[in-house]
Amino acid sequence: MGRKGIRFLVAVLLFSGGYFLYAYFNLPPTREAKGILAEVGEGMGTIAGWGMVLLFCRGPLKLLLNEGPFGRRFFPTGAANHVQGVGHTVLLWLNRTHPPLGVITALLIAGHAAFSSRGNINLFLLLTLVVVFWQACFGLFLKSRMPFQTLRRYSYGVHAQLLTGCLILIFTGLGHLLVGD
Ligand code: HEM
Ligand code: HEM
Repeated sequence: MGRKGIRFLVAVLLFSGGYFLYAYFNLPPTREAKGILAEVGEGMGTIAGWGMVLLFCRGPLKLLLNEGPFGRRFFPTGAANHVQGVGHTVLLWLNRTHPPLGVITALLIAGHAAFSSRGNINLFLLLTLVVVFWQACFGLFLKSRMPFQTLRRYSYGVHAQLLTGCLILIFTGLGHLLVGD
């Protein structure tokens, strides 16, 4: 995330904070759905949350594993190698499951949104949906056999982003705070 990204994020934070205060005090709260379907929807939200953790922890894990000597500061050499080995096994699994897990998580979030709310989605939750589907679509683009190299490079640029992760955190956090009973 470059300078531009950080500036963009700060702007988003300021606008979001302002809009949150406005919505909190002036708009009717987003209503939570009731009943068995709503329970199913909440379960989907919880699972989707763990899905997001698995989708996003690949980046930090890659960074950690590249820091070979880093592990040696904490463990004796033999143990460090062992930890490295386990880390690689986990990373291989995360790599293989990333595309299907991405699609499933996006669908779970859509289901969660449909079942947990009574249709009066607030702006933050709407933006959450947009960013999540943006992420899943460009992921699919990356995997598809693309005839245009430029489009491929562009997809990579907008998919693997710390920025979208931060946006998702901000929008889901504030969006759920606007949900009342
Ligand atoms: C990254 C995306 C999202 C995640 C990880 C997520 C996760 C969660 C979790 C864990 C809960 C609490 C469930 C419980 O009480 O057992 C929840 C509640 C809820 N979510 Fe989401 N959610 C996401 C996006 C959305 C979106 C897009 C909507 C749009 C309508 C939404 C609407 C709601 C509502 C209405 C509730 C019920 C309020 C409450 O129980 O406090 N969520 N969500
Ligand atoms: C909500 C859904 C998704 C999220 C949150 C997500 C998140 C991420 C993140 C954070 C990265 C960069 C860090 C890393 O290396 O892990 C990444 C890379 C990548 N994602 Fe996704 N992703 C999603 C869906 C998808 C889907 C559906 C596909 C393919 C069908 C996909 C394919 C890829 C590819 C090819 C890369 C880069 C190459 C690689 O390291 O494997 N993603 N994704």
